[in-house]
Amino acid sequence: MSLLELDDVKVHFPVKKGLFFDRTVGHVYAVDGVSLTIEAGQTYGLVGESGCGKTTLGRAVLRLNDITGGGVVFDGTDLAKLPSEEMRAFRRRLQMVFQDPLGSLNPRQNIESILSEGMAAHGIGKDQAERREKIKDILAKVGLPSNALSRYPHEFSGGQRQRIGIARALVLEPDVIICDEPVSALDVSVQAQVINLLEELQESLGLTYLVIAHDLAVVRHISDVIGVMYLGGLVEEAPSDALYAGPRHPYTKALMSAVPVPDPEVEDRRERILLHGDLPSPANPPAGCRFHTRCPWVQETKCATERPPLLDTGDGHKVACHFTAEIEAGTVKQTLATGIEAVTGTETVAAEAVEVSEGETEAETPVTEAPEKEPATVPAQADADAKKAEEKAGDATEKAEGSPKV
Ligand SMILES: Nc1ncnc2c1ncn2[C@@H]1O[C@H](COP(=O)(O)OP(=O)(O)OP(=O)(O)O)[C@@H](O)[C@H]1O
Ligand code: SF4
Ligand SMILES: [Mg+2]
Repeated sequence: MSLLELDDVKVHFPVKKGLFFDRTVGHVYAVDGVSLTIEAGQTYGLVGESGCGKTTLGRAVLRLNDITGGGVVFDGTDLAKLPSEEMRAFRRRLQMVFQDPLGSLNPRQNIESILSEGMAAHGIGKDQAERREKIKDILAKVGLPSNALSRYPHEFSGGQRQRIGIARALVLEPDVIICDEPVSALDVSVQAQVINLLEELQESLGLTYLVIAHDLAVVRHISDVIGVMYLGGLVEEAPSDALYAGPRHPYTKALMSAVPVPDPEVEDRRERILLHGDLPSPANPPAGCRFHTRCPWVQETKCATERPPLLDTGDGHKVACHFTAEIEAGTVKQTLATGIEAVTGTETVAAEAVEVSEGETEAETPVTEAPEKEPATVPAQADADAKKAEEKAGDATEKAEGSPKV
């Protein structure tokens, strides 16, 4: 049995209106039907654009957000159904490390006070002296000196503060740690050190991680399995190497196509898939496949009307697309890197490509919104991510004790 199983998890935030905000006029479908499993001792990496629901999903696992529907089974117990008092006991076993290390530490508390607070609440250590000894031990594990105990968060660097955040989770002896963008607020030179630390701790303490990141490189380094999220749902999930070797969902293909390849010959042949427009609003998600308003392979049949389920396409590589096989076989073609042409057999369902002023081509389709904003939101992000990853790789070799696995 898997340690953590999410079954069709939904988190819908009500949108209230009126003088006293008591009328629900709609919902933000932040997480809308996510199922995934995480094995004990493994790392599940969750990636996706800003606003696609990653943090909401992580918080839902800890019940920091109300779960609208579905199940979160941890070690055989469905947390979604637990009364809040019983949930408290499980909170110790499921911890979260936050993106902003400074913002998540109380500036008025010293490190001993910050770290012992949760321990006392969960009855760990019979007195403060015993808790102090344990904290010293954990501080050593995360690479901080024991004199850190009496110091305050502002006295530490960003990387050290993230180590404090990790230590705060570790003192509670958790089974699962949800790391929400654990290194994105850190300087590139210390990102690899923190990633390496997480890996070392996982090995020595047998931890299970859910690592949330928008940085493809960070997730690749640390994850056994990666899930790609788009507008509240998973669109692809696969073992890390398989996902990077051969992404199958059009959205993942677009993300990956923007990542530069170190081999100059391959890099010269690399084709970019530029997506038009921004992520649609989760308060008004498109019907059918959520990605159909931006998909270069969009088809007239099904895409705009039927939501594709996440299905195993072989070797545990799951994809949520009606046309995975056809796209792989090339019978549904995407012929222009910056445009859209979707073909089923000999029938062309997408309209003609039109020239735009910058010399790029755009296309109009019956189901694709005409792009008004500049294209390539995702690849631009991925480009930045890739650049960051390259810099990090360089820094990592110089500064980290060991390189993260690639
Ligand atoms: N408490 C809330 N009430 C209403 N809407 C919310 C709430 N929390 C998050 N949302 C909305 O849910 C959507 C998903 O947000 P979330 O923070 O989970 O995204 P994310 O993938 O973590 O993004 P980022 O990469 O920027 O952190 C967003 O549209 C966000 O505005
Ligand atoms: S279902 Fe259609 S719109 Fe969605 S990813 Fe597949 S081809 Fe694109
Ligand atoms: Mg987030």
